[in-house]
Amino acid sequence: MKPTIILTGCAGFIGSNFVNSIAQINEIRKAYNFLIIDNLTYCGIYESIKESIDNNEHLSFKRIDIRNPSEVAELKKIKNPHGIIHFAAESHVDNSIKNPNIFIETNIIGTLNLLNLSLKLRETNSNFRFLHISTDEVYGSLRELENAFTENHQIKPSSPYSSSKAGSDLLVKSYFHTYSLNTVITRCSNNYGPFQFPEKLIPKTIINGLSGMPIPIYGNGMNIRDWIYVDDHNRGVWAAYTKGKSGETYNLGGECEKRNIEIAKNILKRINRSEDLIIYTEDRLGHDWRYAVDIKKSQEELSWKPKTSFPEGIDKTIEWYKENQKWVQLAQARII
Ligand SMILES: NC(=O)c1ccc[n+]([C@@H]2O[C@H](COP(=O)([O-])OP(=O)(O)OC[C@H]3O[C@@H](n4cnc5c(N)ncnc54)[C@H](O)[C@@H]3O)[C@@H](O)[C@H]2O)c1
Repeated sequence: MKPTIILTGCAGFIGSNFVNSIAQINEIRKAYNFLIIDNLTYCGIYESIKESIDNNEHLSFKRIDIRNPSEVAELKKIKNPHGIIHFAAESHVDNSIKNPNIFIETNIIGTLNLLNLSLKLRETNSNFRFLHISTDEVYGSLRELENAFTENHQIKPSSPYSSSKAGSDLLVKSYFHTYSLNTVITRCSNNYGPFQFPEKLIPKTIINGLSGMPIPIYGNGMNIRDWIYVDDHNRGVWAAYTKGKSGETYNLGGECEKRNIEIAKNILKRINRSEDLIIYTEDRLGHDWRYAVDIKKSQEELSWKPKTSFPEGIDKTIEWYKENQKWVQLAQARII
């Protein structure tokens, strides 16, 4: 019987791309079964992965809320467990400012429940691995010309979202140090690509731009983020899961820093729409200025690097949103 990897949160943006691409690679599908668990929150869209699940016997789905320890404990029965790749989270910074509580419940308590499950599953497989997907936002904000964050940088999160992710990172590290659980953490910069929920900057700019609707930009739009195409991120996640050293953290970034306003203008130019659609709105509370990660360690230890240039990735993304209007309508109807 093939070993089973549990994937959490794969009805969401990054996880659905993982299911639709990495989990379909021939040698990976031959070697593993994947059990996807997700409780399908407003941004967990089953339709994003339905076709893959319907057409692939090595993929299966179970609706589970990771906040609920007894639902998570049901997974103790899994035969031949290999590991967990943990994507599930509340992920939208703006929502965390409006309602932090659920971020603590999902991102911290949910991760704790999965770590406890991992200790149980390790009883059947001593190498059982827990890969935790984290974010560059846990490092806090960089000034304009500071060096990008390395993995050794102290964590200094600013928003309720990044604090909840930092809390879960610390818990994962504590399970490595206290119980010698085989853990790896990846910290990635801003992703873009197909299936991203319309509340985020890039899909919102594409969708609103195509339909001539206003495109809101926080403050003066000069904040900087590093951008990575989602498939590059997921290749890094798989490299970290299969090659990462236990107890280590790996940064995954696109080496592609851009100001928010540059992103909006770039997309509008590609879809042939006027910059007049951009409206500047009151700045996000506690808005971090800049994020960027140093990816040397991942390049050296995981033999990984991002491959997709921004023009290539953004054109693919725009095409995907143009061709998937039904998905866009489905997602827009679920915005909270
Ligand atoms: N999007 C980015 O740019 C980015 C960058 C760095 C790191 N990350 C991290 O990557 C991971 C995935 O991000 P995303 O953008 O795909 O998020 P997303 O919000 O699109 O998807 C999150 C998924 O988790 C599921 N989920 C939420 N609460 C759950 C619960 N209680 N039980 C079970 N499932 C639950 C949702 O239904 C959804 O399918 C997150 O851990 C996030 O912190 C994201």
